[in-house]
Amino acid sequence: MSAKTSFDTLKAREEKVLCRTYGRYPLAVARAEGTRLYDYEGNEYLDLLAGIAVVNLGHCRPELTKVMCEQSARLVHVSNLFYQEPQLDLAERLLATCGLGKAFFCNSGAEANEAAIKLARRYQRKVRGRDAYEIVTFEGSFHGRTLGTLGATGQARFRDGFEPLPKGFLNVPWNDADALRAAVGGRTAAVLVEMVQGEGGVRPMTPEFAAVIQDVCRASGALFMVDEIQTGLGRSGRMWAFQHFGVGPDVVTVAKGLANGLPMGAMLCTDEAAKGFEPGTHATTFGGGGVVAAVAAKVLDILVADRLPEHAAEMGAYALETLGALRAKHPDKIADVRGLGLLVGVELTSSGQDVWRELFERRIVLNLTQGNVLRIAPPLVVSREDIDAYVTALDEVLTTL
Ligand SMILES: Cc1ncc(COP(=O)(O)O)c(C=O)c1O
Repeated sequence: MSAKTSFDTLKAREEKVLCRTYGRYPLAVARAEGTRLYDYEGNEYLDLLAGIAVVNLGHCRPELTKVMCEQSARLVHVSNLFYQEPQLDLAERLLATCGLGKAFFCNSGAEANEAAIKLARRYQRKVRGRDAYEIVTFEGSFHGRTLGTLGATGQARFRDGFEPLPKGFLNVPWNDADALRAAVGGRTAAVLVEMVQGEGGVRPMTPEFAAVIQDVCRASGALFMVDEIQTGLGRSGRMWAFQHFGVGPDVVTVAKGLANGLPMGAMLCTDEAAKGFEPGTHATTFGGGGVVAAVAAKVLDILVADRLPEHAAEMGAYALETLGALRAKHPDKIADVRGLGLLVGVELTSSGQDVWRELFERRIVLNLTQGNVLRIAPPLVVSREDIDAYVTALDEVLTTL
């Protein structure tokens, strides 16, 4: 390790040159492989966070590196003024997994949701002739950090200091059918919802509520839009989380795991909803570029070939079972264990800072949401032994703290 790469040196350099937007973990990652991170001294960490639910196939997967190198030697960027085959390969694969008709590619989750919001408004006005602009979202939701998606996000702490935000968003209580029925009406362009609120503390939707959302959307003409930015592409134990609930959204947004760590997002919609956009109405310079699209197409091939949604279902069920047993052992410290697939939360009865820190000392990386919910969102290739390592460490920590 050279003086240049010591943790303290990196920290000091960062303080000089980067905006203070991130509360960082006390770790500088030098390299990563599979489900493991390594610092500059060669210490190994078990990564149960996957770059916040992004690196679904594991870090530095050789098949993806190969596609990245080959495509970047052939063509990196020409802009969306041109026809590009990798985009089409990806769109065909993605749409086949969810039964939707059209894709729009962009560069992040927030941009995918922005595209969905803009599509809903324009579809209602220009195609349906309805003056319906309101987007209904839910308390505790998280949809991104742009001004538009902050308007949609149902957590005041993310908005603090940024007002005024764009108008036309209505936040209703989570899993509350009556409140939703009262909120949706003639002005509603769309309902935008996560099937499992991730940032909101790993709170799954109830199946009854999913059916009500679909019903009120169909009855009012609003689009049913699902934010699968975190839950999509196998993480929930199926390719898409909505597939657990027997519903059929008009719009699905995805990002995070799409290109296994390269920045990419997509808004997928029905052919009918897609009529809301025409050439020139919405665009992005980089969206769906050759390298990210080629990598994402390969990600989808591997997800299917390696049956990773099924593996995520199995590992997620195992995590819920073993953590459930831990809850029975520590009823005074664990209030709840919940999740879907490999998005699993442990709600503690009090602040989780010390527990998080003790796990980190044991070189286990996960995150803490809402101050008291330990969240794991590991690479989908995580093993039973990796989950055992987490549960054993958590048991130790809860016993000693
Ligand atoms: C459900 C959900 N929507 C939207 C976003 C925003 O995605 P991005 O950070 O790529 O803009 C996130 C990010 O955590 C998310 O979890």
